[in-house]
Amino acid sequence: MSNFNQESVLSVHHWTDTLFSFTTTRDPSFRFRNGEFTMIGLKVGEKPLLRAYSVASANYEDRLEFFSIKVPDGPLTSRLQHLEEGDEIIVSRKATGTLVIDNLRDGRNLYLVGTGTGLAPFLSVIKDPETYERFEKVVLLHGCRRVAELAYGEMITEKLPNDELIGEVVRNQLIYYPTVTRDPFRNRGRITDLITSGKLFRDAGLAPLEPEHDRVMICGSPALLRDTKALLIGNGFAEGNHGEPGHFVIEKAFAEG
Ligand code: A2P
Repeated sequence: MSNFNQESVLSVHHWTDTLFSFTTTRDPSFRFRNGEFTMIGLKVGEKPLLRAYSVASANYEDRLEFFSIKVPDGPLTSRLQHLEEGDEIIVSRKATGTLVIDNLRDGRNLYLVGTGTGLAPFLSVIKDPETYERFEKVVLLHGCRRVAELAYGEMITEKLPNDELIGEVVRNQLIYYPTVTRDPFRNRGRITDLITSGKLFRDAGLAPLEPEHDRVMICGSPALLRDTKALLIGNGFAEGNHGEPGHFVIEKAFAEG
């Protein structure tokens, strides 16, 4: 049996010149935990060209969704960005990753820190009913350079709160905090600065971060991971991973080319 499934593209949405999302069919045998990533790609000649992508849909949905950058000369994304409905795509049968709530100790509030396409794994985490059973408040932070890059804002603020399965818990427990650094917007600044200054907590009506009660998942550029991790460790947080749940977990946002 092959390690890959062939799926077909069901829809494509272009957010900006550099960001797009697409949905595909899902082989029912493909299982994953919310927050995990898998390998996806295209056949180029006879060879598969694959990259790691977080699954942006929840594990109970019958479609798969992916959120991607477009790099003009990127080996995969230069091709993927031209996907159309009905096109075939290869999806690994295996998913893995550290951004799963099982890798976190119990706590009160869960902070999801995503920049750019690093939002993707959290889109599946915020659709998971278990996330709201484990945590009282779930704070989704999305940091981008530009307002136009704040993809999925409407889905999070309009669609999810009215969802049949999780609408009620989303309305009561999810706090969405988008912020940009290079455009005027109601929330401005880097997520790390908003944490350090305390502005985030004042805006959200929550107590400042502390390891006893707060848990954090981080997904973005290597620089974001490095700085956020240093900030948390400086505040007494311990990193978790498979087998050893911690106060926070991190993963690089993958799509690079
Ligand atoms: P900035 O505009 O100040 O660089 P990128 O597209 O480079 O991944 O950035 C996405 C968002 O993450 C931007 O708002 C960017 O802010 C911010 N960012 C980049 N590097 C860091 C970092 N080391 N710590 C916190 N935020 C960062």
